[in-house]
Amino acid sequence: MIVGVPKEIKRDEYRVGMLPVGVEELTRAGHRVLVEKSAGLGSGIRDQEYATHGATIVEKAEQIYAEAEMIVKVKEPQPREWPLLHAGQIVFTYFHFAADEALTRAVLDSGVTAVAYETLRDGRGRLPLLTPMSEVAGRMSIQEGAKYLERPQMGRGILLGGVPGVAPANITILGAGVVGANAAKIAAGFQANVGLLDINMERLRYLDDVMPPNVDVLFSDRHTIREQLSRADLVVGAVLIPGAKAPRLIDHELLKLMKPGAVIIDVAIDQGGCIETSRPTTHSEPTFIVEEVVHYCVTNMPGAVGRTSTYALCNVTLGWVLQIANRGISAAARDLRPIAKAINIMDNHVTNRAVADAFGMPFDARFDDEA
Ligand SMILES: NC(=O)c1ccc[n+]([C@@H]2O[C@H](COP(=O)([O-])OP(=O)(O)OC[C@H]3O[C@@H](n4cnc5c(N)ncnc54)[C@H](O)[C@@H]3O)[C@@H](O)[C@H]2O)c1
Repeated sequence: MIVGVPKEIKRDEYRVGMLPVGVEELTRAGHRVLVEKSAGLGSGIRDQEYATHGATIVEKAEQIYAEAEMIVKVKEPQPREWPLLHAGQIVFTYFHFAADEALTRAVLDSGVTAVAYETLRDGRGRLPLLTPMSEVAGRMSIQEGAKYLERPQMGRGILLGGVPGVAPANITILGAGVVGANAAKIAAGFQANVGLLDINMERLRYLDDVMPPNVDVLFSDRHTIREQLSRADLVVGAVLIPGAKAPRLIDHELLKLMKPGAVIIDVAIDQGGCIETSRPTTHSEPTFIVEEVVHYCVTNMPGAVGRTSTYALCNVTLGWVLQIANRGISAAARDLRPIAKAINIMDNHVTNRAVADAFGMPFDARFDDEA
C-alpha cells in the first residue's frame, strides 16, 4: 500500500502522524511511505530522519493526496484539503465529525473511508487513541497552572511547592479520570496539597490506594466543591460524561468564592467546559480573567508540546496503521472490531450512529454491534 503523511496545516498544530520508526516498519512490511517536506519539523523530526528509514520526501501535499491509498495524519482535514481527498482512499486521523457538519458532508461526498482515532474502541470498551492525549493534557495542566500562577502572568504569585516555612499551593482537580489522575500525579510531585474529586466510587477507591499522601481523594458534591474553591490556588477542570456536554460544576456565583489571582485550567473545554465562565481559547491567547480569576481554556493543549504528543500518539496508532496497510481496509474491518468501530464514513455512507444522529443523516449499520 502507498501510505501518505502530509504536514498538518491547522493553526497551532505541531504534531505529525508518523515517526521515522513507523516509516521503517511499513517499509519492512513492503509498503511505500510518502512524507511531505518538513511534515515533522514542528515535532523536531527532520526530513532526513524519515528518508533514512525509507520514506520518499514529497514537495507538495497535492502529490501525497493524489498518490496515497492511505493518509495518516493528526487533525481532521481542513477545508483546503477537502478537494484533495479522493474516492477509495483511506484517511486515518482524528475527525470529531459530530462537531462539524461541513467537514462531515465534505468527507461523505469525497468517497474516502474515514477511520477516526477517537472512536477506535478496544475489547474492554476503552478508547486507546484518545488516552495518550488526555495523559498529555493532564500532566500539562499543572505545568500551565504553575506558569499562570506567576504574578507577571496575572496569577497570585504562588510557587506550587512553597519553600521551607511557606505553605505549598492548594490544587483542586475536578474529575479523576485519565486527565485528573495524571494532573494529580504531577501536582503531588510538586509537593502541592491536592484535592482530587470524582463521583465514581470505584475510581476513588482505586486512586485512594495508589495516590501519594498529599493527594486527598474526595467525593465530588456541591459542598466539597465549594469548600475546595475557597482554598484553591489552582483548579483543574477534568470531568467527562461520555457523549454529553461536560457538567457545569462551577457557576458564576461559585467563582466569587475563589481568591483573586487564582487560576482555572479548564481541560474539559473541548466538551463545553465544566465552569460557566469558560470559553474556548488558543495557544496564542490562552487566558482571560473573570472575577479576578485567570481562566486558561485551550481546546488543543497537546498541540503545544508537539514532540511529546507526536510520540505518545504514534506509539498507539502505528499498530493499527500496519494492520490496515497489511490487510486492506475491508479485511481489517471484518476481522478487527476496533477498526470497524473506528470507521465513521465509508462508500459515501455514515457508518457511525452518533455522527448520523448529530446531523439527521441516514445511518449505515454495516459495522453496528446491535444490527
Ligand atoms: N483541552 C484539551 O486539549 C484536552 C485534551 C485531552 C482531553 N481533554 C478533555 O478532558 C476531559 C477529561 O478527559 P478524560 O480522558 O480524563 O476523561 P475520563 O472519562 O477518563 O474521566 C472523566 C472523569 O470525570 C468524572 N466525572 C463525571 N461527572 C463528574 C462530576 N460531576 N464530578 C466529578 N467528576 C465527574 C468521571 O467519573 C470520570 O472519572 C474530556 O472532556 C476530554 O475531552 C481535553
